[in-house]
Amino acid sequence: MKTLLKLAAAGMRGERLVMLTAYDAMFAGYASKAGVDILLVGDSLGMVIQGHTDTLPVTVADVAYHTACVARGNVDSVILGDMPFGSYQASVEDAMRAAATLMQAGAHAVKLEGGAPMASTIEFLVKRGVPVVGHIGMTPQSVHAFGGFRVQGRSDAAIEQLKLDLAAVTDAGAAMVVLECVPAVVGAMLASESKIPVIGIGAGPRVQGQVMVLHDILGWTAKPPKFARNFAAGTNTVQDAIKAYVDAVKNATFPAESECYA
Ligand code: KIV
Repeated sequence: MKTLLKLAAAGMRGERLVMLTAYDAMFAGYASKAGVDILLVGDSLGMVIQGHTDTLPVTVADVAYHTACVARGNVDSVILGDMPFGSYQASVEDAMRAAATLMQAGAHAVKLEGGAPMASTIEFLVKRGVPVVGHIGMTPQSVHAFGGFRVQGRSDAAIEQLKLDLAAVTDAGAAMVVLECVPAVVGAMLASESKIPVIGIGAGPRVQGQVMVLHDILGWTAKPPKFARNFAAGTNTVQDAIKAYVDAVKNATFPAESECYA
């Protein structure tokens, strides 16, 4: 039986970890059977399922509903529920209630966005039995503060801030951290210094694991991000396409240089 903490330990021993979003029972089954370690019920569901232009409208009830669907199809992957915008930023009590709702729906752990400012919330949850994955770099819930979905970590000051954010979520007790949309050299630098696995998305190949949005790896996204690869090309089934993604992460052939930010 996979657990977040066993996977975190394996990641620090050098095993490459595979995370993929899932939103329903059928795809959760395919992904779990294909060897995906962690099924992320991401708030990206707001964009790929609900048709919004960003993740902000997603509610705890939405993520809980999709988490329950994923839990019914899961075989042996860890299910990670994404804490949506507004469900954890105002108070630790809000955060605990949202985390409890997601875990009662079937999540084994939760993910929340933000570095140092979220450290006390992560610590509060971890001390109350909720395994937490952090999320730093380009955090989509802050899209309006960033002025768009922009690559982060492009200046010395921004890199220093990312280091502080990584240290803060680590010290707070996060088991892993998602690092989104940073130059590959920055991803490699942070991962080499990190005491917890860094799971990259658009952060280059030299991190402890990768996470992707399901629709991006199946080639279904109209305007895929630079870091996406269509793993369905040349395969006959969804499960084979997901297996191709799993294999490419495990054998370090994904992402290629052309799929990274310089
Ligand atoms: O919601 C999501 O799918 C995510 C990934 C982009 C990491 O947070």
